[in-house]
Amino acid sequence: MKRFQDKVVIVTGAASGMGRALALLVVREGGSVVAADLNADALDKIPAEAMEASARIRTISCDSSDATTGKLLADAAISSFGRIDGFVPCAGIIRFVSVRELPPRQWDTVLNLNLRGVFFQIQAIGAAMIAGGHKGSIVAISSTSCDGARPNNADYGVSKAGINHITKTFALEFAPAGIRVNAVSPGVTETAMWSQVDRERGAFLGLPPGQLTEKMVSEIPMGRSCKPEEIASVIAFLLTEEASYVTGQIITVDGGFKLNHP
Ligand SMILES: NC(=O)c1ccc[n+]([C@@H]2O[C@H](COP(=O)([O-])OP(=O)(O)OC[C@H]3O[C@@H](n4cnc5c(N)ncnc54)[C@H](O)[C@@H]3O)[C@@H](O)[C@H]2O)c1
Repeated sequence: MKRFQDKVVIVTGAASGMGRALALLVVREGGSVVAADLNADALDKIPAEAMEASARIRTISCDSSDATTGKLLADAAISSFGRIDGFVPCAGIIRFVSVRELPPRQWDTVLNLNLRGVFFQIQAIGAAMIAGGHKGSIVAISSTSCDGARPNNADYGVSKAGINHITKTFALEFAPAGIRVNAVSPGVTETAMWSQVDRERGAFLGLPPGQLTEKMVSEIPMGRSCKPEEIASVIAFLLTEEASYVTGQIITVDGGFKLNHP
């Protein structure tokens, strides 16, 4: 029996990077996915990539910053597949500007998607999971970059520190209903977002494209960056009953980077 046989997982940010890797992993392992993203064109390619399993993917183009998106996705999962076993909010953005100049509008854009949107999605989808009356698992995405201060990145750092906090609070309140809530905290992972980090944070440091990645990788004990599939496989573990007694945890997946960058 495949790991996700008869299971239904909602994934946001499913058109790219970690979310895309996770959506494809879940269908490959027998599950059904509600795949959501703002980028409708990239999202449309997912069912084709899943080939014969495409009937087990329902794509929804929507804005994860919107507080009503959680209910929309929960309703879609129930109407298409009849239940919800897992939820993984992967949609996220990053911006770089000094705290001296960070405008309120950018603060709101980053926090509304990375934290407020995730909070209200967990609230609505968690309620639907509890109403379903069976066990479930929610996995949020944090970042190793929120553990220490990074210049020009306060809004993003606050959003991910907030993810760590709400993960623990939802875990506490949902535990009696059999819903586990954890977060994965990735280090340098090869996605579109990391390319943006390399370009934009690199530019702040006066580095040409590619050099920030080279510098970071040289400081990773395992000597390489992470593939999005390696994040997806840790999320998959947390989604299944293999992690049946794990809740409220922030799981770092960084090739050992934080061992010498506490
Ligand atoms: N890549 C890294 O090195 C890294 C490290 C730590 C944490 N993270 C986190 O991992 C998560 C996934 O990022 P990724 O690296 O796969 O990035 P990515 O850029 O490849 O994917 C992010 C997805 O989110 C979607 N998105 C953006 N705004 C949206 C909105 N308003 N509504 C719905 N969808 C929206 C994008 O269209 C994109 O498909 C993010 O939360 C990110 O902060 C990434």
